Amino acid sequence: MKTRILIVDDEVDALDLMEELFQKNGYETYTARNGVQALKIIREQEPDIVISDIVMPEMDGMKLLEAVSKEYPDISMIMITAHGTIETAVEAMKKGAKDYILKPLRLDEILTKVKNNAELKALMRENQYLREKLSEKYGLGNIVGKNKKMQELFNLIQDVARTSSTVLIRGESGTGKELIANAIHFNSDRVNKPFIKINCGVLAENLLESELFGHEKGAFTGAIKSKPGRFELADGGTIFLDEIGDISPNMQLKLLRVLQEGEFERVGGTETKKVDVRIIAATNRNLEEAMKEGAFRQDLYYRLNVIPIEVPPLRERKDDIPLLIEHFLNKFNQAFNKNIQGVDEEAMRCLQTYHWPGNIRELENLLERAVVLNKTGLLTVKDFPPYVVNAEPENSIPVNLDRPLTELVDEYEKQIILVALRENNFNKLRTAEKLGIHRSTFMSKLKKYGIN
Ligand SMILES: Nc1ncnc2c1ncn2[C@@H]1O[C@H](COP(=O)(O)OP(=O)(O)OP(=O)(O)O)[C@@H](O)[C@H]1O
Ligand SMILES: [Mg+2]
Repeated sequence: MKTRILIVDDEVDALDLMEELFQKNGYETYTARNGVQALKIIREQEPDIVISDIVMPEMDGMKLLEAVSKEYPDISMIMITAHGTIETAVEAMKKGAKDYILKPLRLDEILTKVKNNAELKALMRENQYLREKLSEKYGLGNIVGKNKKMQELFNLIQDVARTSSTVLIRGESGTGKELIANAIHFNSDRVNKPFIKINCGVLAENLLESELFGHEKGAFTGAIKSKPGRFELADGGTIFLDEIGDISPNMQLKLLRVLQEGEFERVGGTETKKVDVRIIAATNRNLEEAMKEGAFRQDLYYRLNVIPIEVPPLRERKDDIPLLIEHFLNKFNQAFNKNIQGVDEEAMRCLQTYHWPGNIRELENLLERAVVLNKTGLLTVKDFPPYVVNAEPENSIPVNLDRPLTELVDEYEKQIILVALRENNFNKLRTAEKLGIHRSTFMSKLKKYGIN
């Protein structure tokens, strides 16, 4: 594809000179005599590069530059300015011009600058293309991940989507539970039916009840009209019950009935409603622990946990960090009209060391902020907060007292085994010896922790 250049100058001689030069060198050209004409051509043709004189009648070059930087940030502007007015050139660069050319015009200089610019643009286009390819290759829709566990998860999601079984998605905050719920619905044959979401954690019990099951007129103060609930609205489709671990015992009982019989009554109603709804629930709570404490019904747990999906925290899939970064840079470059090329080596090392308690959401938020504030086109440690940049590598496990001791100890044991394996070149026999345990004990531990 030929690079397309718009030349804007009120002097016909200069215009002809440049037009001939570029055409001889294989560019496609357009010409305009002032800013107004130029904008019209830009709108119709969207050229790659605009070379514009600054002093022109009607709309001058600076005004044109402002309009183009705002509306067409992908177009490179190169400004031509009369000899001796270097300040104008500087001002133009500040306003977003990519380069400037001083008058009197020198053909070789013009050509070099345009060539450089065209090459840079081609490179950026290619980068963009590669990035898009990358996320297509390693992902399920907008969920990216090439980590082994994530790849298994994608397969599981696709299998599960074909059924109508109840799914329980577990994982820390920000790991992508909602994204997975979306993927299940949109890959299922219910895709053209409603997908209804409700966050059970934020509503008071009576509100939640009327939201889920609806209410009849006069059921409570303020119920001036009958209203269908989310289950009715989701009929034929999918309902996503987020933060299911937070609901009250009374609501647990009512949900159990829907799960068992597919039926319920509106608040204040007598008619029993029957619906066909696929249920996906999610929580970051430890439901087993809640069950032991009597805060979560066991029968409901078993009804929900038909297909469990465990989403690993980001610190257990750090190999996905570069890919996720590419993905989010893509997203935010587009959203904010920026062109950040990437993250330098030092910053990448820091991002891979940090332990990401807020998981992907935290990574996403930090990148958004970095993209918005960055001025250089490359993210460095300066673009990230000190607690990320100065994070110490983890050699001890963070003690999260929400979890039972046995689980914490298991996690610690798993880490030790992984380190020992690595240090012994993954030779199982030698690792077992080194750890001073019998080979069969060691093998059963490998099995227990899913290490192979
Ligand atoms: N694998 C992924 N690829 C791309 N984006 C992701 C991925 N996982 C999560 N995200 C993004 O991270 C953010 C958090 O994801 P999501 O809301 O699904 O998490 P969550 O597990 O539901 O969190 P919470 O428990 O706090 O509700 C979203 O903006 C989501 O798009
Ligand atoms: Mg969520």
